[in-house]
Amino acid sequence: MDKLLIAMICAVLLARANHASAADLAVGKTYFVVCSGCHGPDGAGNAALGYPPLAGRDAGYVAEQLRAFKSGKRDNATMRAMARGLSDTDIDNLATYVATLQ
Ligand code: HEC
Repeated sequence: MDKLLIAMICAVLLARANHASAADLAVGKTYFVVCSGCHGPDGAGNAALGYPPLAGRDAGYVAEQLRAFKSGKRDNATMRAMARGLSDTDIDNLATYVATLQ
C-alpha cells in the first residue's frame, strides 16, 4: 500500500514536471522581454548601470530572489516594482527560462 502510494505520487509529480517545462519556458521567455531591458536579452546584465547578470543562475535562486524582492525581504525599489505584479506561477516560469540563459 505504501509503495503504491509513493509510486502514484511520483507519477503525478513526474507528469506535472514534464507538462510544466515546455509551456513554462515559452511563457517565461515572453515575460523576460521586460527584464531584458536591464538584464540583457541573454541575461549578461549591465555592470556599468548596476544591473546584475542572470545568466548562469539556477531556477531556484532566481525564484527565491524574485519572491524576496516581492515581499521586500530583499530591499531594492527597482526590482520590487518588477516583482510586485508577478504571481507565483509567473515567478516559476521566469525562473525556468532564466535558468536556460548561459
Ligand atoms: C529597470 C531595470 C530592471 C528591470 C526591468 C529588471 N531588473 Fe532585475 N535587477 C535590477 C537591479 C538594479 C538589480 C539589483 C538589485 C539589488 O541590488 O538588490 C536586479 C536584480 C535582479 C535579480 C537578482 C540577481 C542577483 O544576482 O541576485 C534577479 C533574479 C532579477 N533582477 C530578475 C529580474 C527579472 C526576472 C526581471 C523581469 C521581470 C527583472 N529582473 C527586471 C534591475 C532590473
